[in-house]
Amino acid sequence: MTAVGIDAVEIWTGNLKLDLPGTFAPQKGEDPEKYTKGLGLNASSFPDSYEDIVTMGANAAHRLMERKGLAPDDIGRIDVATESAFDNSKPVSTYVAGCLEQVFDGDFHHANKGERKFACIAGTQSLDDACNWIRAGRNRGRGALVIATDTALYARGDAGEATQGAGAVAMYISEDPDLVELSTGQGYGSADETDFLKPNQQFPSVDGKRSVQVYLARMREALEDYESVAGDVHPDDVAFVPFHTPFPGMVRKAAMLAYRHVIRDTSIEDELAEEIGRQPRPEAFDSDEAYRDAMREYMDALKETAAYQEWYDATIDPTLSISREVGNWYTGSVHIARVSALKRALEDGREMTDEMLLVGSYGSGAQAEIHAETVQDGWEAEIEALNVEEQLEDRYDMSWEDYEEIHDAHNHDMDVDVEEFTTPESEFVFDGWGRMGERKYRYVE
Ligand code: COA
Repeated sequence: MTAVGIDAVEIWTGNLKLDLPGTFAPQKGEDPEKYTKGLGLNASSFPDSYEDIVTMGANAAHRLMERKGLAPDDIGRIDVATESAFDNSKPVSTYVAGCLEQVFDGDFHHANKGERKFACIAGTQSLDDACNWIRAGRNRGRGALVIATDTALYARGDAGEATQGAGAVAMYISEDPDLVELSTGQGYGSADETDFLKPNQQFPSVDGKRSVQVYLARMREALEDYESVAGDVHPDDVAFVPFHTPFPGMVRKAAMLAYRHVIRDTSIEDELAEEIGRQPRPEAFDSDEAYRDAMREYMDALKETAAYQEWYDATIDPTLSISREVGNWYTGSVHIARVSALKRALEDGREMTDEMLLVGSYGSGAQAEIHAETVQDGWEAEIEALNVEEQLEDRYDMSWEDYEEIHDAHNHDMDVDVEEFTTPESEFVFDGWGRMGERKYRYVE
């Protein structure tokens, strides 16, 4: 079977930055270490007043198409995954196509366009749809553009305000990809949950603590489901595990559960037994509560072992470096985790071709999905071509007053005009409203 997967990726961050320990925490009367150590975040990205999900998505896609020498004719499908859409009918992908048609010769009149919604997991679902479209032989030699773009803003004063972010990831999906091949084996954990939702409102209603528990429960189910089709996962077989990363502290919790699961009945569990005992098994306990207490104790001990810490440092920590600087990008978060890991591998001079990634996506509401990816031999050139650091450094560092203004400027219920903080250059910008309430965009040289 021909390999299908991600040929190329580009990211686009919102042009503003909020320093969480330095600017946000003092205003909230909080210890900066809640951010740096607890949530694992240094900063969040924000959109400037001329940016939105369309400009960020189109800018990422523009960079990607230019770098790969792609023309509109090479693209048979454009799917945008977002939970920040501003229209219940016209999909964001039509706006993105309109932007790209301003700068490329040709058009996307024969490309199928859509919009995917399932909280943060929609980016992975779009990726999956694109791969299936190609595997079904319906692509006529063309590839698919998948764009995950979000402005993850919360109401002022909501607990989620600590984990905001804004940015887009564009991916080109094709046969014989340069970056990663996706497995056909995948596992799901899915249930009707009320942890985070936006019932026709801009800012989410969120039960943050519950969303953490639902993430973990669904991810565990997805891992078990994945193993039921692909066989047991052994830690030695996996180079990196990019998880959906609303904030790195969430991934710390998911990683511990995953490690505990994959070492069960392996020589790693046997070797650790002398130090911390074997994992509790439910059948050895009279009640669920007693089992859960014993498991908590085991995990506290496991966390302190050199085996766990070495695995975490090698397999998980490298996936978090971009997230720490940008916050939550919702649909894009798991896709920047993959980029972070491969960037670290490149910096370390590590050979990654044929190595396996286990990718754990999650969307509130709620669903987790796990699949494997095999790194392809073009990965180094693909990752080398990214300008992530440059983009992060170029962001304008907002004061508290700037932040308050820009949050209001993006609040759909407020009508405030805010001067832009940065000067757009070689990018698409929001250019006002049309006669039917549509949004208009323009490319700035
Ligand atoms: N030093 C070190 N760690 C600290 C700290 C300090 N001074 N102060 C707090 N922390 C730790 C806490 O112990 C906690 O870690 P733990 O969960 O491992 O115990 C973490 O920092 C966060 O602190 P907490 O008090 O729980 O923060 P919060 O009440 O602001 O809530 C969220 C955090 C994530 C629930 C909230 O930001 C939220 O609702 N986010 C949006 C929803 C979301 O992203 N959900 C994730 C699943 S999709």
